[in-house]
Amino acid sequence: MFPFLTHAALPSVEIDLSKFGIAGYSLVLKREDLSHPFVSGNKFRKLKYNLEAAREQGHNTLLTFGGAFSNHIAAVAAAGKELDFKTVGIIRGEEVKNKVSENPTLSFAENCGMQLHFISREAYRSKDETDFINNLKEQFANYYLLPEGGTNALAVKGCEEILTETNLSFNYICVPVGTGGTMAGLVKASDESQQVVGFSALKGTFQTAEIEKYTSKTNFDITDAYCFGGYGKIDTDLVRFINEFKEKTNIPLDPVYTGKMMFGTMDLLKKGYFKENSRIFAVHTGGLQGIAGMNQKLKKKNLPIIE
Ligand SMILES: Cc1ncc(COP(=O)(O)O)c(C=O)c1O
Repeated sequence: MFPFLTHAALPSVEIDLSKFGIAGYSLVLKREDLSHPFVSGNKFRKLKYNLEAAREQGHNTLLTFGGAFSNHIAAVAAAGKELDFKTVGIIRGEEVKNKVSENPTLSFAENCGMQLHFISREAYRSKDETDFINNLKEQFANYYLLPEGGTNALAVKGCEEILTETNLSFNYICVPVGTGGTMAGLVKASDESQQVVGFSALKGTFQTAEIEKYTSKTNFDITDAYCFGGYGKIDTDLVRFINEFKEKTNIPLDPVYTGKMMFGTMDLLKKGYFKENSRIFAVHTGGLQGIAGMNQKLKKKNLPIIE
């Protein structure tokens, strides 16, 4: 086991719902974001067993994919630096190539030693095809491939560990959803009397199929009602909510995943979606490195920023 991949028990914080005008429920937020300064939240869980496998199999390079503001790219770069793996990031969009210094995620990754390769959006779409992979194999020797968003069976295994024995008494588990890997781990680890509610960060609930690859349990549901128009999209209501949540709880949320999940959870609480008197367990999956990039975009549009 790598030393950095162990950490003290993470806090689960009771949110004072009266500050949000809500009564009759209990909401606890698990601070997975506190597991590591740069490889935090679900990234820590997803990488843990993959990094062990990479080392055991004798690989010296981690190769992965992502967009210009990807939490996964930042986490892989930081983990590689800490554990002495070379890292290669295949980045979506050739137009980003000349903007690395302005982009907080990519400049962080580069400073960690990640080699960045920019490819067109069209080429990126074929990244799972055999020809594309064979071409990568010719360019980069002896690498361990981490898929986009980091989801694979070992990642799901790591995410199962988010839930502990004592968490199995909650009635609902709320989690943000990108590829569905984190949610798959939670569904696998949940008790079948619990309902796992996923908040898609992008349009659609297609992640259900991904989750079904890893578990036959059906105690889950995904909504995209709180995706704010799509991946990476945001409006002033969401910014206001993220700032209000921080002011009232002292807990920061990211704009792409956890902000949308918590906005949705609060809204569903107000609308009576959850059974009366139920206890809800929400997972803070990290992603706070994305705030700087989002604030740049908001400033350019003269919109309020995330404090
Ligand atoms: C902070 C954060 N939360 C949640 C998710 C969604 O995780 P998954 O892709 O496993 O659904 C991601 C994306 O990978 C993320 O970066």
